[in-house]
Amino acid sequence: MKPKIYISRKLPETVVIRLSEICEVKMWDKEEEPVPRDVLEKEIQEVDGLYCLLTESIDRDLLHLGTRLRIVSNMAVGYNNIDVEAATERRIMVTNTPGVLTETTADLTFALLMATARRLVEASDYLREGSWKTWSPMQLTGQDIYGANLGIFGLGRIGEALARRARGFDMNILYHNRTRKLEAEEQYGIEYADKETLLRKSDFVCVLTPYTPETKNYIGAKELLLMKPTAALINTARGGIVNEDDLYQALKNGTIWAAGLDVFEEEPVRTDHPLLSLPNVVVLPHIGSASKNTRLKMSLLAAENLIQGLQGETPKNLINGQVEKG
Ligand code: NAP
Ligand code: GLV
Repeated sequence: MKPKIYISRKLPETVVIRLSEICEVKMWDKEEEPVPRDVLEKEIQEVDGLYCLLTESIDRDLLHLGTRLRIVSNMAVGYNNIDVEAATERRIMVTNTPGVLTETTADLTFALLMATARRLVEASDYLREGSWKTWSPMQLTGQDIYGANLGIFGLGRIGEALARRARGFDMNILYHNRTRKLEAEEQYGIEYADKETLLRKSDFVCVLTPYTPETKNYIGAKELLLMKPTAALINTARGGIVNEDDLYQALKNGTIWAAGLDVFEEEPVRTDHPLLSLPNVVVLPHIGSASKNTRLKMSLLAAENLIQGLQGETPKNLINGQVEKG
């Protein structure tokens, strides 16, 4: 008998076909609407595997309902939406999709940095709304990117890919992790800095750490005050890492110059959120990995992880290896 799985969002057909070769598949068949919680609560009781997105909160209560659940496969590299500890206690495997989205997300991060530095969205709106009357010396002037100091919090897969892009723009690169990466320092000519030094020296601060209890509110009023008044903050990691109220105040008061945000504490962000009222903020709807190729690769990798787990193999991207022990 085929194992049963539930897919929490409509997936590309090729992925569903692949999963159907091995599993009995049920899917929430809408693309633009997340599965309601009560539906997920019902479906999880019936299945051996769950294929989910970062929009679903796979918390302790939900996992408790999955009495026959063996694996949760997340179609994202970040897995802060899943209570991994609760899953491990119940010997449920949890997998994610690292690597395949690294370059695409680094592209978007650098694009957001450039759009913020050079005020691209504001300038485009200025033209479209008919405000462009003449060329003028200081009109819509931004910050230089080449030769500027880039500070990266979280020099992991995406952080390193971002550093490679920044080198091409002759940027001076600083990073801060909990562990130094000597090889990357040598390879990319980058410098390790403590948190305070990175904030003080950088013209662009990019946040690329995972969202964990340790990184919740990692950038708040105290950190923003250390930044240069000409600096920009770019966040393509997760919303809760930067305190949004503090960021709003810092941008409004001129403590920092601008921000570029692909992620928000609550997603979708409310259109009346104070941050969206500021002209010096570039906002995107969490599209870091959104290229056609990469999203297909992510959805296939999540499918393979799920299949491997259900076939008794160790999934390629198993997060909680402890479930296999004992
Ligand atoms: P990764 O390879 O695991 O890199 C994360 C880096 O953060 C590591 O170098 C880690 O180094 C550092 N880090 C972790 N905790 C830290 C802390 N408390 N203080 C300072 N540094 C810390 O992950 P990745 O693949 O690059 O992805 C990073 C994150 O990007 C994901 O978790 C996800 O949330 C986000 N993301 C967003 C999008 C999007 O669409 N916007 C797309 C992909 C990923 P140490 O362990 O040495 O500290
Ligand atoms: C996207 O945000 C991811 O974590 O893959």
